[in-house]
Amino acid sequence: MTLSTFWQTTGLLLPLFATGLGLHCDSQNNRVIVLNLTSMSLTGTIPPHIGNLSFLVQLRLRNNSFQGSIPVDLVHLHRLEILHLGYNSFQGEIPSWLGSLPKLQILYLFRNNFTGTIPPSLGNITTLKNLELWNNNLQGNIPEEIGNLNNLETFNLYGNQQISGTIPPTIFNISSLDTIDFALNRLSGNLPDDMCQYLRVLKRLILHHNQLEGSIPSSLGQCKELLRISLDGNKFTGIIPRNIGNLSLLQELYLDTNDLKGELPEELGSLHALERLRAGKSRITGSIPPEIGNLHNLKVLSLHNNSLTSLIPSTIFNISKLESIGLYMNRLSGPLPSTIGLGLPNLKELLLWDNELNGIIPGSISNASELTILELALNLFSGPIPTALGPFTNFSAESFMGNSELCGASRLQVPQCKTHALQELKKKKASVMKPIYILPTIASMILVLAFTYFLLRSRKRKSKSLEEEDVLTLATWRRISYQELQNATNGYEESNLLGTGGFGSVYRGKFLDGMIIAVKVFNLQVDRASKSFDDECEVMSKIRHRNLVKIISSCSNIDFKALVLEYMPNGSLETWLYSHNYCLDTLQRLNIMIDVASALEYLHHDYATPIVHCDLKPSNVLLDKDMVAHIGDFGIAKLLGEGDSMRQTNTLATIGYMAPEYGSEGIVSVTGDVYSFGILMMETFTRKKPTDNMFEGGMSLKWWVKEALPDSVTEIADANLLGEENLSAKVDCISSTLQLAVSCSEELSERRMDITNVLGKLQKIRKEFEKSVVLP
Ligand SMILES: *[C@@H]1O[C@H](CO)[C@@H](O)[C@H](O)[C@H]1NC(C)=O
Ligand SMILES: *[C@@H]1O[C@H](CO)[C@@H](O)[C@H](O)[C@H]1NC(C)=O
Ligand SMILES: *[C@@H]1O[C@H](CO)[C@@H](O)[C@H](O)[C@H]1NC(C)=O
Ligand SMILES: *[C@@H]1O[C@H](CO)[C@@H](O)[C@H](O)[C@H]1NC(C)=O
Ligand SMILES: *[C@@H]1O[C@H](CO)[C@@H](O)[C@H](O)[C@H]1NC(C)=O
Ligand SMILES: *[C@@H]1O[C@H](CO)[C@@H](O)[C@H](O)[C@H]1NC(C)=O
Ligand SMILES: *[C@@H]1O[C@H](CO)[C@@H](O)[C@H](O)[C@H]1NC(C)=O
Ligand SMILES: *[C@@H]1O[C@H](CO)[C@@H](O)[C@H](O)[C@H]1NC(C)=O
Ligand SMILES: *[C@@H]1O[C@H](CO)[C@@H](O)[C@H](O)[C@H]1NC(C)=O
Ligand SMILES: *[C@@H]1O[C@H](CO)[C@@H](O)[C@H](O)[C@H]1NC(C)=O
Ligand SMILES: *[C@@H]1O[C@H](CO)[C@@H](O)[C@H](O)[C@H]1NC(C)=O
Repeated sequence: MTLSTFWQTTGLLLPLFATGLGLHCDSQNNRVIVLNLTSMSLTGTIPPHIGNLSFLVQLRLRNNSFQGSIPVDLVHLHRLEILHLGYNSFQGEIPSWLGSLPKLQILYLFRNNFTGTIPPSLGNITTLKNLELWNNNLQGNIPEEIGNLNNLETFNLYGNQQISGTIPPTIFNISSLDTIDFALNRLSGNLPDDMCQYLRVLKRLILHHNQLEGSIPSSLGQCKELLRISLDGNKFTGIIPRNIGNLSLLQELYLDTNDLKGELPEELGSLHALERLRAGKSRITGSIPPEIGNLHNLKVLSLHNNSLTSLIPSTIFNISKLESIGLYMNRLSGPLPSTIGLGLPNLKELLLWDNELNGIIPGSISNASELTILELALNLFSGPIPTALGPFTNFSAESFMGNSELCGASRLQVPQCKTHALQELKKKKASVMKPIYILPTIASMILVLAFTYFLLRSRKRKSKSLEEEDVLTLATWRRISYQELQNATNGYEESNLLGTGGFGSVYRGKFLDGMIIAVKVFNLQVDRASKSFDDECEVMSKIRHRNLVKIISSCSNIDFKALVLEYMPNGSLETWLYSHNYCLDTLQRLNIMIDVASALEYLHHDYATPIVHCDLKPSNVLLDKDMVAHIGDFGIAKLLGEGDSMRQTNTLATIGYMAPEYGSEGIVSVTGDVYSFGILMMETFTRKKPTDNMFEGGMSLKWWVKEALPDSVTEIADANLLGEENLSAKVDCISSTLQLAVSCSEELSERRMDITNVLGKLQKIRKEFEKSVVLP
């Protein structure tokens, strides 16, 4: 076929023909050898006529909007070496006839919508070097025939979610492999202990977020070229093999969230190229080997939530490239070295909360001039919080709370340091003591003095912190005493209990003037409840919207913290969804979703600092007397700094509703709320919780909904919604809402919609629905 007939028959490519762009011909016989249509905004299907370009060596269609399946006519392209279809919307199965393209070297099908299994016939293409099938919807096992590809360099199945079974041992016989990336799938079983016997040029071993178990292969030290090992988010047990120290090129080692139960081997200290060492939440025991201090290239050291004990080796504080140290939630003890800030010019984060560290906070920390996140809470530190210069001017009370012996600026909610305190006391003494001068002994006088001082100070502190809030707050927050709350709730009587949550309980109460309120009492026995209170106060003081629960006041002293909130007589969405007595209809549910989206839009966009709620779920959506929804519970909300689009955190949200990047990396951003909102919408219209038993082992609410769309909506929708009246209008409405929900809960945060868009779409869905229902 000549070129011109080709263009004429396909039509599609005429504009290219005019410019000659994107195509190269063989100079001798004028046959097309390269067809390169990268990033041309093309749509439609691949014209089968391309199969007539039998001299074609490269077919590059990357980054267009092609759809449909790969036409079988391409089987005639027996000279094809490169087939690049990445970043399109292709669907259907990966055709098994690809296995008969005898010269194929590069097969890129990534970021499409391919479904079905990986055809074993691909194992016939012995010329294949790069096989990249990531971010599709493939399922089933990895065919062992792939092990025949003895020229394969890159094998990437990342993010297919449903690829399962064990990794066939034949894969580890491919000595040419440079990259293995099977992350974010459902692979199970062990890795063979001798897996590195033949893998001599492997640079990247990326297996995170699967269900792999057994021990970390002891042969790992033989894969000498390794640059990156990611085994996090699996079920590996046992010790980290000692010969890992032989990996002199290794830059990244990720072992978080496993079940190791062993100690860190001192051989880790031989990984001289290592830049990132992360092994949090892996049940590691013992002490941190001082040899870690030899890792001169280390930038990130993250060993949080393990059972590490004894001192933090001081050598660590001499690694000049270190940017982040995360050792929180361990049992580390002892003081910090006095020179701590001198050897860490690049340190940005120092996360040491929830340990047993003691002694003073060394003033030299101020020399770490890049430090912006400092968390020393819940330790046994004592003495003054360094004020001087440097970063301490920026940190807030939460960085230091839970260390009862610290003193310093009142802004940090710690007692003032001694010399100041004494002066204050002398000044106050005369005026305060007058009414009680008849007390009998000097000892009790001192006691009372101390007590009065304490009262004064806490009152002073309170007004001080109110001053720091915006003026609006000061004017509108009603002042309420502990006693008033006690009376309003009948002494927190059981019958007034509205619910309990992670950080405390909520009671119904009634003031003498008849006003009904909800009182959220924080259980200060729970770790971080007090931080949650502070967070919630901070957020609540700044916001005001018809779809947010209003705060009326707060009541706080050393051992009692409570928030007084607007009472919501109709309870939570959770109650309504799962009650057998009453039921919300389609329009009511849609209205509630629109209310929630309006509140989110306000939080994300209307305030100078975006606010991320972080814990959106039906029990936090409350309904007032008119069934208008209000978002409540800002206990773990986050304020993003100006210009920040994300923040890292260590507070856990609720499993099932939280975005994957929040769960695995602690990344907080507005798109995480959009994800949770998607899950909330799915739950609202299916009446299935993401944690329902049916979603164990493989299936998830998200997949279940996704797979049922668009044709089988009636199979997943809450049966209570599907009465005969207006059935087709309801099905359309639910289907559109669920589709919107699926796109809100995209795995990749950058693919999720902005909440403003979501709100617009919901309003459109409501309009359509109202138009199409037949009013009785
Ligand atoms: C294919 O086209 C794109 C966009 O025009 C260009 O950037 C790329 O270099 C081309 N690739 C080849 C191999 O010609
Ligand atoms: C994809 O193509 C569009 C134009 O169609 C272009 O704007 C965009 O930069 C391309 N993206 C990538 C990653 O090449
Ligand atoms: C080109 O391909 C089409 C579809 O595969 C086929 O019907 C047609 O006969 C071919 N034409 C030539 C000239 O090969
Ligand atoms: C995948 O398919 C679904 C529906 O079948 C569609 O909504 C989605 O946009 C597709 N994704 C891509 C990346 O093409
Ligand atoms: C290709 O692979 C399939 C399945 O592995 C096999 O049955 C078939 O004989 C192979 N074909 C060739 C030409 O090697
Ligand atoms: C791997 O290769 C070795 C040597 O070529 C061979 O003995 C062994 O059986 C192979 N293993 C697998 C699982 O194919
Ligand atoms: C590899 O590590 C083992 C155990 O740590 C050690 O005995 C061996 O000498 C190392 N081999 C090389 C080549 O460094
Ligand atoms: C800490 O680790 C334990 C066990 O690995 C886990 O059960 C717990 O949820 C973790 N806590 C946090 C807050 O990550
Ligand atoms: C850190 O390095 C400096 C200079 O090399 C050295 O004097 C000091 O003793 C080291 N400190 C620690 C705690 O290793
Ligand atoms: C550490 O900070 C103090 C106070 O800002 C300063 O006087 C001192 O020179 C700094 N030391 C080093 C080594 O930078
Ligand atoms: C303190 O905060 C301000 C504003 O957020 C920032 O510009 C400044 O760099 C911070 N200072 C330090 C030492 O981190």
